[in-house]
Amino acid sequence: GTAARHGEPRHGGPAQSPFVRACRRESVPHTPVWFMRQAGRSLPEYREIRANVAMLESCRRPELVAEITLQPVRRHKVDAAILFSDIVVPVAAAGVDLDIVPGTGPVVAEPVRTVADVDRIRPITRDDVSYVDEAVRLLVAEMGDTPLIGFAGAPFTLASYLVEGGPSRTHAKTKALMYGDPDLWHALCARLAEVALSFLRVQIDAGVSAVQLFDSWAGALSEADYRRYVLPHSTRVLGGLADAGVPRIHFGVGTAELLGAMGEAGADVVGVDWRTPLDVATRRIGPDKAVQGNLDPAVLFAPWSVVEAEVRRILDEGRAAPGHVFNLGHGVLPETDPDVLTRVVALVHELSARPVE
Ligand code: CP3
Repeated sequence: GTAARHGEPRHGGPAQSPFVRACRRESVPHTPVWFMRQAGRSLPEYREIRANVAMLESCRRPELVAEITLQPVRRHKVDAAILFSDIVVPVAAAGVDLDIVPGTGPVVAEPVRTVADVDRIRPITRDDVSYVDEAVRLLVAEMGDTPLIGFAGAPFTLASYLVEGGPSRTHAKTKALMYGDPDLWHALCARLAEVALSFLRVQIDAGVSAVQLFDSWAGALSEADYRRYVLPHSTRVLGGLADAGVPRIHFGVGTAELLGAMGEAGADVVGVDWRTPLDVATRRIGPDKAVQGNLDPAVLFAPWSVVEAEVRRILDEGRAAPGHVFNLGHGVLPETDPDVLTRVVALVHELSARPVE
């Protein structure tokens, strides 16, 4: 109806949506579901709209951002949208010369080696990312009761791209800097924490209903090194938003041993990959945080009977947690059949439907 289209809440608005309620560990009519990388190459309508626009350029056009963000909401009926952008967008806005290369990911022209390189990463203000502010405002006005998730890259994952110069399997250069020059490492991560915090504040001020801090590659570290070299900086980001009034999700891949520490950084919800069952994850994270996850994205290529059994298992294990947001354990793979994603959303809703308390 028009009320929803013009952003006038009919049922308490996005703050009372199943997604935000589950993040806050409140009762929900069904388990909410969204997918990391739901806006992207699995959708033909995305490939079409992106055909002649480079990735970073598309992130700087508010109308295009709004359209791409809404595509998976329309198609799959997911419970939340995630802003179409990238973790390196605020880093580029901070003055770092980088590009997102199709099929590869972020590539940095001059990798960080010295204090002077760190000093060249400027703090950012709203004006440096005004296109993000505008895109969020457009979306919030359009979306009515559907929540919009804002996001940023966490200091470790951003530092990895900046030190390696691009994607890395081993993170060897990153670790060499971390162990070999801890002062420089902490200076770099402190600067990246400020960039991430400013980027998230812009999105919160513009109206997002929740934020997710992506520390995708933190699982490369032991718990001891994570606590020493990373946790203080991620805590600066999430702790800096303690009074912002929106749920904070903290996610990484391969983080079974880090789940407790990632919760301690100041998260309301901890993202879990497919390697750790959600009931086990809940024991590690504690009773005062919700969990998000954790279907293996590769399972979407299995026969439907397998997908169905996995969705059932994850919903069952998720009942051990005080709140559960259904998601994949990592992003949608580009070759995924989008119809399978639509079916998963309907199945999660059907299997988890319960009377409102
Ligand atoms: O739907 C969504 O999830 C919202 C948009 C989003 C993108 N990147 C768009 C994107 C989000 C949340 C991200 C976060 C991001 N970017 C992360 C953290 C999440 C994760 O996957 O672990 C990371 C590590 C990046 C860095 C990055 N940017 C990678 C690894 C890639 C993929 C490289 C490739 O081509 O396979 C990108 C590019 C990128 N960001 C694409 C999209 C849709 C693909 C580029 C394209 O469509 O041309």
